[in-house]
Amino acid sequence: MNDRAGQSPPPDGHRLERDAERMRADGYAAIDLLVDHLATLADRPVGKIADVDELTGLFSGAPPRHGRPFAEVLERVDRDIFANSLLCNHPRYFAFVPGPSNFYGMLADALAAGFNVFTGTWLESSGPAALELSMIDWLCGTAGLPDEAGGLFVSGGSVANLTGLAVARHVKLDDRTDNAVIYCSDQVHASVDKALFLLGFRREQLRRLPCDENFRLDPGTLRDAVSSDRQAGKRPFCVVGNAGTTNTGAVDPLNDLADLCGQEGMWFHIDGAYGASAVLGKLGRDMLTGLGRADSLVLDPHKWLFQPFEIGAVLVRNRALLSETFRVSADYMQDTEAEGLETNFCDYGIQLSRGFRALKLWMSLECFGLDAMTQAIDHGIELAEVAEAAVASDPRFELTSPACLGVVTFRYHGSPPMNEETCDSINRLISRDVMASGDAVVTSTMLRGRTVLRLCTINPRTTHDDIRNTVGLLAEVGDRVAGSTAARQASST
Ligand SMILES: Cc1ncc(COP(=O)(O)O)c(C=O)c1O
Repeated sequence: MNDRAGQSPPPDGHRLERDAERMRADGYAAIDLLVDHLATLADRPVGKIADVDELTGLFSGAPPRHGRPFAEVLERVDRDIFANSLLCNHPRYFAFVPGPSNFYGMLADALAAGFNVFTGTWLESSGPAALELSMIDWLCGTAGLPDEAGGLFVSGGSVANLTGLAVARHVKLDDRTDNAVIYCSDQVHASVDKALFLLGFRREQLRRLPCDENFRLDPGTLRDAVSSDRQAGKRPFCVVGNAGTTNTGAVDPLNDLADLCGQEGMWFHIDGAYGASAVLGKLGRDMLTGLGRADSLVLDPHKWLFQPFEIGAVLVRNRALLSETFRVSADYMQDTEAEGLETNFCDYGIQLSRGFRALKLWMSLECFGLDAMTQAIDHGIELAEVAEAAVASDPRFELTSPACLGVVTFRYHGSPPMNEETCDSINRLISRDVMASGDAVVTSTMLRGRTVLRLCTINPRTTHDDIRNTVGLLAEVGDRVAGSTAARQASST
């Protein structure tokens, strides 16, 4: 039969389908690649940062007119794409906040993508919505939030902060930002600045108050700032507390901040994107007292609940405030309107089309069990203590912040110690050279104006030996870099 243009109909390829046998074979090949990756992770380099020159042209050109065999494509994915990245689930990846992930989370993501679940409305995904509600309820309960609390899964901490702060703006300011002021310590994550910018606040409306000697927000400093702003006719409306700063793992005095917010009628938002998960373990729970006093709380399962990217959670003390903030109606959505207690997650946040993030958290918990998960969290806390001990026993290092919620920072100062500026650049070079070696990834940060090395140890695959060997490697590389810096300085004088 001819088509409208009098030509043969296109071959079956236009259906974008494959027969079942082929799908199975291709699918098994993809799974084999994933399993090989996980099974050999610890023995591989931590990855590679390719030069721009190396990659230029590698992916140029239009897509092929005709499809290639999957095996060929998969080989390129492995060789050209994955091999040119750092593996943030590797046991010796200690940079930023690692993404340890886990096998069942990864399978769940494949399933969610395969069924292509749309979780914006109850109508389209009642089962997935019920599962998301139950995971969110569990997280709320774990954090100590009351029964009326609720929330949703979003892409990660940045969007979770944005969502929580949008609710704060709506509830406390009726969305009018003029003269409003928000408070946090100078250790707050940059995603808070971004969120406030997107919500229409000017830079000067965020008071980044100097932290105390333990990198925490001091309630006295906060009280003074609020009172002087009130005297100046400003509208203090929100405090952002940290439950685990990215720099040092510090936890702000959450109860004190909650008390002050209560007295001043301010919203209390807690950014626990990486740290709040530790409330599940035995070791972190006490450090996080007051977590349940948040008006809104951010907690990222793609960090310390070991899920593949992207899953962050925003939890709100009174879930009704989420739909008060975000719910809009549209004619073409009339069939989705709830008739009873059904939840439409599109009313709780920014996304309408949204994937099924809850599945990976649920499947990982079902398959590994809660005990394994909490032990894995506690293991991360212990590893930072092992690192602290290794650093403390080496005179070439100075500890700059103690192990706290899986983060420890320190500075190579050599022996005898060098001047501070030279030391700053040597610590940057240590991070660069160790990363280039492929043995470990350790990044640097700034504390009190000085460059320090930082380990974030939340990967359950990491062993005590990984930690000790990495600290040893940092010292060795430090000696080498310091030696060549000294030689260069001597030859230039
Ligand atoms: C404390 C804190 N808040 C927010 C974020 C942002 O989270 P995401 O990268 O998932 O957007 C991070 C990321 O590391 C973080 O550590």
